[in-house]
Amino acid sequence: TPRVARSLSALRRELDSLRARKATVALVPTMGALHDGHISLVRQAKRRADKVVVSIFVNPTQFAPTEDFGSYPRTWKEDVAKLAAERVDLIWHPDAKAMYPDGFTTRIVPEGPALAGLEDRFRPHFFGGVATVVAKLFAQCRPDVAIFGEKDYQQLRVVTQMARDLDLGVRVVGSRTVRERDGLAMSSRNVYLSADERRVAPTLHRALKELASRLRAGGDMQDALRDGAATITQAGFDLDYLEVRHAETLAPVTQDESGPKRILVAARIGTTRLIDNIAV
Ligand code: PAJ
Repeated sequence: TPRVARSLSALRRELDSLRARKATVALVPTMGALHDGHISLVRQAKRRADKVVVSIFVNPTQFAPTEDFGSYPRTWKEDVAKLAAERVDLIWHPDAKAMYPDGFTTRIVPEGPALAGLEDRFRPHFFGGVATVVAKLFAQCRPDVAIFGEKDYQQLRVVTQMARDLDLGVRVVGSRTVRERDGLAMSSRNVYLSADERRVAPTLHRALKELASRLRAGGDMQDALRDGAATITQAGFDLDYLEVRHAETLAPVTQDESGPKRILVAARIGTTRLIDNIAV
């Protein structure tokens, strides 16, 4: 089974021994409740470095008071078993006091096109919380490479930008979204879905695929977005956003702009909020 570090001093000790003989280290940051999406990041990490560290920390500062921090699924034993099966070298599992000791006051606030709109409009605290904890994880683990899922596409862009802006010396690598057989993107929050909600949830991915193929075929962007939004709301979702953005900068794009595009969606069904995205 993997080694587990719960304090900064234990982490340093474990990392020193992992790095013996100049081994490279990949970090996979998670909040636990691990599923096959997380495991695919671990496998990606194994391909890119000699040693793999997985952090498990449900980060309170990226949850708004109204969100699900208290009820977020915590499945420590199952998580450890899954990481053991993948032969992960080290699990970094700090408690909230180790990560945010009394008197902690610094916050990293991302800005620019990667932040504008999308999730930030609906969860204004979210990326500040993510950027701060990810910067700390990078400083604590000093990995050569860190793997993030395309599932959280805006998060991937924000973290990539931060690593570059702050010269963090970590190569941020994106890894493709792992889906259920019916297309629903795997998420720790899918356990919140009722049976009825679970049945309609794949509509999100279906709508994205349809939209992407219409855009690829040169169809009108506004028409395609309108139809996509209609499909999603008719299935019973409340739509937060459905937008086409530049795939790297996340700046808004128009129909005729060249360069890679990404379609991003967030929608609520019952009390659950789902996000997904697709390349055009
Ligand atoms: P969490 O939601 O646990 O996700 C951890 C990593 O797994 C993220 O990089 C996320 O994009 C990736 N992931 C989730 N579902 C995936 C799927 N279906 N396919 C591929 N990758 C997937 O994202 C966070 O935690 C936190 O914000 C964190 C970065 C750990 C900071 O607290």
